[in-house]
Amino acid sequence: MGFGFFMMARKGIWIPCVILAVVWLIHVIYFVFKVKTIKEPRKDDINMKPDYKNWMPKGMVLSAVIATTVFLLLFIVFGLTGIVSGTLKTLLFIVFLTFTAIGLCVSVWMILMYRAFSYDGKRQMSRQIIEGVAEYVKLPDGGKGLDVGCGSGALTIACARRNPNASFIGIDRWGKEYASFNKPLCENNAKAEGVDNVSFARGDACKLDFADETFDAVTSNYVYHNIPSNDRQAILLETLRVLKKGGTFAIHDIFSKSKYGDMNAFMKKLKDMGYEKVELIDSTGKFVTKWESVWMELAGSALLTGRK
Ligand SMILES: C[S@@+](CC[C@H](N)C(=O)[O-])C[C@H]1O[C@@H](n2cnc3c(N)ncnc32)[C@H](O)[C@@H]1O
Repeated sequence: MGFGFFMMARKGIWIPCVILAVVWLIHVIYFVFKVKTIKEPRKDDINMKPDYKNWMPKGMVLSAVIATTVFLLLFIVFGLTGIVSGTLKTLLFIVFLTFTAIGLCVSVWMILMYRAFSYDGKRQMSRQIIEGVAEYVKLPDGGKGLDVGCGSGALTIACARRNPNASFIGIDRWGKEYASFNKPLCENNAKAEGVDNVSFARGDACKLDFADETFDAVTSNYVYHNIPSNDRQAILLETLRVLKKGGTFAIHDIFSKSKYGDMNAFMKKLKDMGYEKVELIDSTGKFVTKWESVWMELAGSALLTGRK
């Protein structure tokens, strides 16, 4: 019965498949072309627009799109033409159709994420989150702030702009997973924004290269959930280690139980240690809509704030 269905489906599926292939290839060409036209920053180009890149790495989206295209071509060649026949053809039809369908879903999901996060698009979710977090970062005149995992410098620059009489440093590991983020990009973005009370350095959130109580404010956005760890509360404590007594913190991340464990217990621990006004503010429905938090896997997004 199932076999018969696939034999029938195989015969009648040519036209929708060719339409799907053409539509998909148009999308691939459009996406690749758009991505390729994004300019890399030049060190001496101070009049350029800032380019904060995208939290959905371009390489990941391209890999999914290319893999889907390959599966689609394999499906057409082996599942629909006469190159192979009989059971093998049916088997390849099912396998490549399944991979193509999964690849299509993943690619479309990634492209939609890329568009929602983009600083150029309609939604501009990243900009909204960055500005929302920066609102909570207040520095005294002459104070020093730290942004952990600064990426392309967006939050560091936003905080520095809001606190012109203080200075801010952004640190990041700048590893392979976010290959388009780097120190010259951050520096170019600061120049393009006309913000000069910032600096950037390579560093690891798990072991910060600063003495205890160095900063008047510490912040971070969507960094720690990316770090493979069984104990992300320890990473939070490492960030708070470099905060001065009386300094404030605003850390935005996905604080789900699976990623951070019991955050209520952690907040109680901070209060027992003498921290004040410790709050975990749900940011879904604030920077991100409830629906976006579901389909973009951002459920649990919250802002941990307080004073040391
Ligand atoms: C989703 S991006 C967010 C970037 C930036 N905070 C923003 O809001 O635009 C995550 C960043 O975390 C950085 N990161 C990951 N692991 C890190 C670590 N152990 N130490 C410092 N940065 C890290 C990545 O390099 C990447 O730039």
